[in-house]
Amino acid sequence: MEWAATTFALYGAGAAALATSMVKLGRRLELSQAKHRSLAGHARIARRLAAALPHYEYDEARFFSADGAPAEIVELRRAGFARLSDFYKTRFAETIRRSAEAAVAISDLQFTGTYRVPFQFSRLVRADLPTGALLQASDGVTVTDLDGNRFYDLAGSYGVNVFGYDFYKGAIERGAARVHGLGPVLGAYHPLIIENTELLKDISGLDQVSFHMSGTEAVMQAVRLARYHTRRRYAVRFCGAYHGWWGDVQPGIGNPLPARDTHTLADMSEETLHVLRTRRDIACVLVNPEQGLHPNAPAPTDSALVDSTRWSRFDKDAYTQWLKRLREVCTERGIVLIFDEVFVGFRLAPGGAQDYFGVRADLVTYGKTLGGGLPIGVVCGRTGLMKRFRDDRPADICFARGTFNSHPYVMAAMNEFLHALRTPPMQTLYQNLDDTWNARARRLNEHLADEGLPVEIANMSALWVVCYTRPSRYNWMLQYYLRAEGLALSWVGTARLIFSLNYTDADFDAVAERFVVAAHAMERDGWWWHSPALTNKSIKRTIIKEMIARRLFAPRQLRAH
Ligand SMILES: Cc1ncc(COP(=O)(O)O)c(C=O)c1O
Repeated sequence: MEWAATTFALYGAGAAALATSMVKLGRRLELSQAKHRSLAGHARIARRLAAALPHYEYDEARFFSADGAPAEIVELRRAGFARLSDFYKTRFAETIRRSAEAAVAISDLQFTGTYRVPFQFSRLVRADLPTGALLQASDGVTVTDLDGNRFYDLAGSYGVNVFGYDFYKGAIERGAARVHGLGPVLGAYHPLIIENTELLKDISGLDQVSFHMSGTEAVMQAVRLARYHTRRRYAVRFCGAYHGWWGDVQPGIGNPLPARDTHTLADMSEETLHVLRTRRDIACVLVNPEQGLHPNAPAPTDSALVDSTRWSRFDKDAYTQWLKRLREVCTERGIVLIFDEVFVGFRLAPGGAQDYFGVRADLVTYGKTLGGGLPIGVVCGRTGLMKRFRDDRPADICFARGTFNSHPYVMAAMNEFLHALRTPPMQTLYQNLDDTWNARARRLNEHLADEGLPVEIANMSALWVVCYTRPSRYNWMLQYYLRAEGLALSWVGTARLIFSLNYTDADFDAVAERFVVAAHAMERDGWWWHSPALTNKSIKRTIIKEMIARRLFAPRQLRAH
């Protein structure tokens, strides 16, 4: 009898363990199904592949014929490249000379200088088309280099520049005068912080505010708070989304360690909603609304522009619906919904992305332009989520500090920004913002199509991505033709054109005209030569073959056949 009971108990325990493992396996499978099928959706595999990617570069001949173009096209390219190189070295001489000096000891410049174009082309481009990294002035919608060349600014200071540089100069100057009495005292606050807090509560519709020194830190703190209050482990981020360079939110390439407590799931996906609805260990979902422009893909830098598959299209209605559904699931499951508005917040609407999409989050991070031109990161949240200690557990705290947080000068410049946001001239900038920028994008696209140029713009309001409509290995060259026409781009090149909202129609028309001239010059120089055999697939296949050959036996430099 006793034996039978023991056996029965053992069988029972075994069956229960098996059932638990099956449930776990099922959950694991569901998690896998909710990943995007691209490499960006599989952070660990992407990191491993990236680590195995061999370096090689093209010799001079292959540089111009990587797509198998005929000799006459290669000659056109060679001549165009030499002309452009002469132009750069003459027109930007001083800026290039001083930038090269600076780069010797500034690691950031070495990095951005190397990653402007696909690595196979990088060395020759750096040598012959050096890009200046130094500027001496800004004015209106332009910036001026050390040689006195004025460029239309499309780099937008990483998105900080929403109202135009003159506005931020004024905000910093006026702000500094207002807090001069206290100066750089830290720890205790300047009273301006009280008004800033009230204004931010009003904008975010949330109860409390914490101040940090960068967007990265604001995101860190938001995720930490979500974990602390839900007592759950995992943060969910969406495939391709950037949230700063903290390891937990950057689990793929670029982070030396794997992020163990982050799930990267597919954006706009039923499988993702299913995972959120069924798992109990998810603390928060982090949304960067910029992804509406290219769901499930990273902001595509020109250094990754190996072919013409870069794709972008903003469908506001579809993305709004997705955010609403996310909101519902998060509410249902007690998951903290975080909007990371560091980049797009005040670029889309005075009330930020919550206002623009009509969806409310539990925590919102702001940064960039909010500092009125100075460094900033802010978290806004509901009272229950912002608390950093527990009344019933005195040692169980959620620690967050930061020497420079709430710096008086930053508070003052922020105050200028927040007040300006409410003034009629700034409110006017936001009026019909999407209509204005959609119409501008449409106009330029029509012009490009009429001219038969293989380039197309996708936009989310005044945030633009250049896409390419004909398979090519040389699309990244466009950034150099654009610079030659006086258009300033950031190091990611044509992946991101950021317009400030003070661009007038006349300013914009000047940019559009230069854009077309640049694209024509590039076309004339043969870079967009095309044969039916050249497809995006065939380009990728060639590159994979090159890599395999390089790993197995080839020298570092690949020669033309
Ligand atoms: C959405 C988003 N979050 C966070 C950050 C990080 O901000 P910061 O560069 O100020 O650390 C960025 C920066 O580009 C961003 O775009």
